[in-house]
Amino acid sequence: MNLSGIDMTQMTENADLEEQLIDDIADALAQRGFIHLQHLLPKWLALQLMHEAQRLAAFEFKPAGIGRNNHQQVNSQVRTDSTLWLRGNSLTQQAYLDWMEQLRMGLNRRLFMGLFDFECHFSHYSTGDFYQRHLDAFKGRSNRILSSVFYLNPHWSESDGGELLLYADEQPSPLLVVPPEFNSCILFLSDVFPHEVLASHSDRFSIAGWYRVNSQSSDRLDPNQ
Ligand code: OGA
Ligand code: MN
Repeated sequence: MNLSGIDMTQMTENADLEEQLIDDIADALAQRGFIHLQHLLPKWLALQLMHEAQRLAAFEFKPAGIGRNNHQQVNSQVRTDSTLWLRGNSLTQQAYLDWMEQLRMGLNRRLFMGLFDFECHFSHYSTGDFYQRHLDAFKGRSNRILSSVFYLNPHWSESDGGELLLYADEQPSPLLVVPPEFNSCILFLSDVFPHEVLASHSDRFSIAGWYRVNSQSSDRLDPNQ
């Protein structure tokens, strides 16, 4: 053990996904369109991601935008978190991207979703930060298919706020309330479920990601990020 409580001997292990877990995720997505998972990654990987997010948040994260590419703008009425795209710059980021890649291939084999790639960013909500109700994709107008949010907050309690509320269509009351608890994750169809992040009352870290299809008719990918 080192000082941060991570067993270094485990860090070289691969973070492999079990086939049974992919089966369960695929079944839930096919039947309900979302799944909430606890204790998802090996603990060492979740801890490393947490440390990396905390370390980078101080200087590297930028106020989050809304919209895509040229149309991107900061709108602090809609969201006030700060973000940093993962680009595989560290072994930790690579391990996360690798895990999500295994899931991408597993889902494609089971559901023929044609998921083409995955993009994700760290998010940091400081006290008071929120993200108003939104959809991650509009039908037919986006190549985002499946959304994922992975949470990095140990010892989260109700008084910390910051819950993710997942809605069915225009319904006023949420379908699901998700506390942003350490090593838990929510996956949901991007163009089906509106959702919002309630104001957080302490530092809140997560990784929001999207599996995408290549919706371009040419061989050029939609420019991402
Ligand atoms: C997003 C988002 C939810 C969360 O970044 O699009 O909805 O719980 N995040 O962080
Ligand atoms: Mn969202």
